[in-house]
Amino acid sequence: MGDSIKKNKGLFRHLLPCIKGFWLPAILSPIAMLLEVSMEVMIPKFMSAIVDGGLYRYEDYSLSEYFSQELFSNPTKFVLTLGTIMVIIALLSLGFGCVGARASALAGTGFAMNLRRKLLAKIQDFSFANTDKFSTSSLVMRCTTDVNAVQMTFQMIIRMMVRAPVMLILAANMAFNINIRLALVFVVGVPFLIFSLLILLRKAKPRFKAMLKKYDSLNSAVRENLVASRVVKAYVREDYEKDKFDNAAKELKQSQLMAEKIFTIAGPIQMSIMWMCTIIVLLLGSKEIIFGNTGLHTGELISLVTYTGQVIGALTTISFMTVNFSRTHESLIRINQVMNEEIDVVGADTDYTVESGSIDFNNVSFSYSGSRDNLALENIDLHIKAGETVGVIGSTGDGKSTLVSLIPRFYDALSGTVCVDGRDVREYSLKHLRDGVSMVLQNGSLFSGTIESNLRWGNDHASREQIEQAAQAAQAHDFITSFPDGYNTELGQSGVNLSGGQKQRLCIARALIKEPKILILDDSTSAVDTATDRKIRGAMRSALPNTTKIIIAQRIASVIHADKIVVMDKGHISDVGTHQELMQRSEIYRDVYEAQINGQDSQQGGETDA
Ligand SMILES: Nc1ncnc2c1ncn2[C@@H]1O[C@H](COP(=O)(O)OP(=O)(O)OP(=O)(O)O)[C@@H](O)[C@H]1O
Ligand SMILES: [Mg+2]
Repeated sequence: MGDSIKKNKGLFRHLLPCIKGFWLPAILSPIAMLLEVSMEVMIPKFMSAIVDGGLYRYEDYSLSEYFSQELFSNPTKFVLTLGTIMVIIALLSLGFGCVGARASALAGTGFAMNLRRKLLAKIQDFSFANTDKFSTSSLVMRCTTDVNAVQMTFQMIIRMMVRAPVMLILAANMAFNINIRLALVFVVGVPFLIFSLLILLRKAKPRFKAMLKKYDSLNSAVRENLVASRVVKAYVREDYEKDKFDNAAKELKQSQLMAEKIFTIAGPIQMSIMWMCTIIVLLLGSKEIIFGNTGLHTGELISLVTYTGQVIGALTTISFMTVNFSRTHESLIRINQVMNEEIDVVGADTDYTVESGSIDFNNVSFSYSGSRDNLALENIDLHIKAGETVGVIGSTGDGKSTLVSLIPRFYDALSGTVCVDGRDVREYSLKHLRDGVSMVLQNGSLFSGTIESNLRWGNDHASREQIEQAAQAAQAHDFITSFPDGYNTELGQSGVNLSGGQKQRLCIARALIKEPKILILDDSTSAVDTATDRKIRGAMRSALPNTTKIIIAQRIASVIHADKIVVMDKGHISDVGTHQELMQRSEIYRDVYEAQINGQDSQQGGETDA
């Protein structure tokens, strides 16, 4: 991926709108956690009150202002009253905690759903060039794993972002109120914690980045393997593919271990700091109770230890959150790269529609990399009148598919203009342009669902009659009706339960249903026998008489009757003319023709008189 991918532009700009519809739980969660933490810091206070109540006289009791002497002098009643209040506070704290957790889960899942929708909507707007830039597996990763990471962090933020600092402040405040000298222990402990944290953070970032990259490669290994499982088997490459996967998995494991190491170290460091602080508080505190004259009570020391735990606990949560942020930061960047990707093919906001279907290439050059150094098409001048049938012939890799992909703006020309109806294709809205241009791709895809639902992609509102007509023209009607369920036959993923030629014919029917002004067939009958190919061409002539047709083919027979035939040669147009003209003056064309006629390509040779 090039530098052109914008990295950090407005990292959170796309996130806030995703909370839409879930603001209530998103706000409720921190409020509930705030209430929970306020309850929680009160519990040690009651603990110390109960303990000290049994050990000291009313005059020496540090909380005497809160309790009447009468209650104090009845130990059973005193413990029961305070105990009951403590239980109620604990239950309340638990309740608020549950509400907070539930609300954050609600907000988090809703947020992730919105974010995924937004990502997918953006990816659907991607041009072919945009999709080429990111790999498909990386895009899948960004919509799944990366969104997950961001969701987890978002949930943590709304639960902990308020809770942890408030806990830190309240618990520290309580501790300082009990005994300033002892509470100063935190002042020593905290910098240690923060220091170790900063070091960890620095180490964590690159490791998480590396880990996500490895995830991409693993994903890509799985995807390719599954999508092409038949090819893998046909070439007996299972072992090779297994090794490839094993390697990707091993590398991921390695990078995961490297990244997780940070967390492994973080835990013990924090625990040791917490125990050190506890030991110091206990040591100094008990000395003070025995020898000192600061009036520290035993119960207070106990609650001080609990507050120490709460303070360090809050700090641990904050540090854990920070480490987690650094992990999520990488995911956030990856999501942002998608959201900030500039879509290079954007339709104009106009109402022009394709009316006649004439096509002009005016001195067009094109390169997939966007640089002039390796042009896939160079200085193409080609003019096709409305309603003409044009054949395109050329060797593999000569740029035939590239040429036609500029018409519906799958890619944009690097220089020169492509015009439809005499108007630059960039002046149409993408919808109107693509409604007017039907393209049967070289490796067209079908989708799971019934045959009819697949054909309806061409036109949602087509009547059953129109669908059958198109299927008839594409010579698909007969094989469709031979299936027990006819047009309602369920197709497997990508139409696996059809033969190659059947798939191609469905793709053609789907394109015909659109009744386009321009119809492009990119090697679309390569898997269809020559007799059927001939029938399809005949039917198309009568079904769409005024449609401009571009037929890319390997077989001369498929284009022999075209109004003109374009001969492509390594990104250039070598010649344009009718069959007879080209036979006279184009050496390339004659070579291809003779190769096919003279039985070197015997299968196709005999059919050229189609
Ligand atoms: N998505 C892509 N990214 C980069 N280069 C590409 C891409 N698609 C095609 N190319 C390159 O552009 C050149 C022309 O390819 P194109 O697909 O137009 O050939 P073609 O004439 O249709 O070949 P075939 O008869 O095999 O279908 C080839 O050299 C190919 O490597
Ligand atoms: Mg091609």
